[in-house]
Amino acid sequence: MANAEGSWEIRLERPEEAAAIESLVAEIFGPGRLAKSAYRLREGVDPLADLSFVAVENGILRGSVRFWPIQVGSEPALLLGPLAVQSDQRGRGIGITMMQAGIKKARALGHRAIILVGDAPYYARAGFVPLPAGGVRFPGPVDPARILGLALVDGALEALTGEVCRAR
Ligand SMILES: CC(C)(COP(=O)(O)OP(=O)(O)OC[C@H]1O[C@@H](n2cnc3c(N)ncnc32)[C@H](O)[C@@H]1OP(=O)(O)O)[C@@H](O)C(=O)NCCC(=O)NCCS
Repeated sequence: MANAEGSWEIRLERPEEAAAIESLVAEIFGPGRLAKSAYRLREGVDPLADLSFVAVENGILRGSVRFWPIQVGSEPALLLGPLAVQSDQRGRGIGITMMQAGIKKARALGHRAIILVGDAPYYARAGFVPLPAGGVRFPGPVDPARILGLALVDGALEALTGEVCRAR
């Protein structure tokens, strides 16, 4: 996917990019990320390769987004994150374009819903809405106002209630 803002492109992550993505994410989120609830759900689980996108410009990694298989209660869903854009490259539309690429592909693959923990004002740009407090429960403490969801098929968010756990 090309863009009007510059020469970056969005494409699927390649296996050999895993280390560069890890260092980008570590640089942006710091060591505190490892203690976060969403990370516990990812530990020991691989991100979905067909939903892991990078932004690349002249061979340089500008950003990354990954999705993970989870369940909410007995309902399968996707967990979005981390979404990360190099700090000196923000505001160019890279974040939203990577996210939209993932959402479009997830829908095409038949996934029903995406959830995440993040800033509602930003993710609203991609259609995410706050989920009803207490409905979707992450392991460990999470600010309920930051639990957001996006239905890929009608009614999918209403079906999401219960504990969030790794996909079985
Ligand atoms: C959030 C992030 C991925 C956005 O990437 P980006 O490529 O700059 O995003 P876009 O260019 O698509 O959008 C930029 C717009 O979103 C806004 N925005 C960025 N972060 C925001 C936030 N947390 N809340 C509300 N708005 C936000 C910017 O102000 C900008 O607004 P404008 O279009 O009106 O100028 C990037 O800032 C980042 O990596 N941040 C640190 C990690 C992070 O917070 N990740 C999200 C997990 S909650």
